[in-house]
Amino acid sequence: MSIKEQRKQAIIAMVDRVRHCLNEGINIDSIELAKRELMKLCEQWELFPREDFPVPSDEQPELFFHIYEDPVQEYSLYVYSALPGQAYRPHNHGNSWAIVAAIEGMEIHSLYRQAGYSSTVEWVTDIIVKPGTAVSLLPGGIHAIQSAGDCPLLHLHFYGKSFEIQGERTEFDVKTGQAHHLTLDENNLSYIIDARH
Ligand SMILES: [Fe+2]
Repeated sequence: MSIKEQRKQAIIAMVDRVRHCLNEGINIDSIELAKRELMKLCEQWELFPREDFPVPSDEQPELFFHIYEDPVQEYSLYVYSALPGQAYRPHNHGNSWAIVAAIEGMEIHSLYRQAGYSSTVEWVTDIIVKPGTAVSLLPGGIHAIQSAGDCPLLHLHFYGKSFEIQGERTEFDVKTGQAHHLTLDENNLSYIIDARH
């Protein structure tokens, strides 16, 4: 069986287990169980060779390979391949939960809390995502990302919905206290490669 076919089977099995974890509702406990399932998939690093997910170039320093979406668009998995140095300001993923786990490379996820209904956010804690660790966000959860170290990143990003259907995302400017609302579409998703088939 090819690596691609083995990967596909491992992903489908992982999604089945995660669906079971989240069946009763999405909360801190159930998303933690789902996170562990994604971490187990990362341990099968041989299923994610650099031949299939190459280190990107300086011209396009990050790529999302969209490798799985279930038939009713409830579970969506991406391989994130990036050069060191990428950073994202605090943002949520619309109405989707999110889990990020590492195969190679390290980044710091800073978790924030929204101050009431205001556009300001308060830092809560930092979580280092590197091989053997992961981070999860409930729907509406806010994180900022800063890559760390000099190793290119190979991470798995797992969402309740694909980027295109996560709904309106909010990004927060910590310095100005302003919030920016945007919907991801083909204009700002040019770094995604459809590798679902
Ligand atoms: Fe994010």
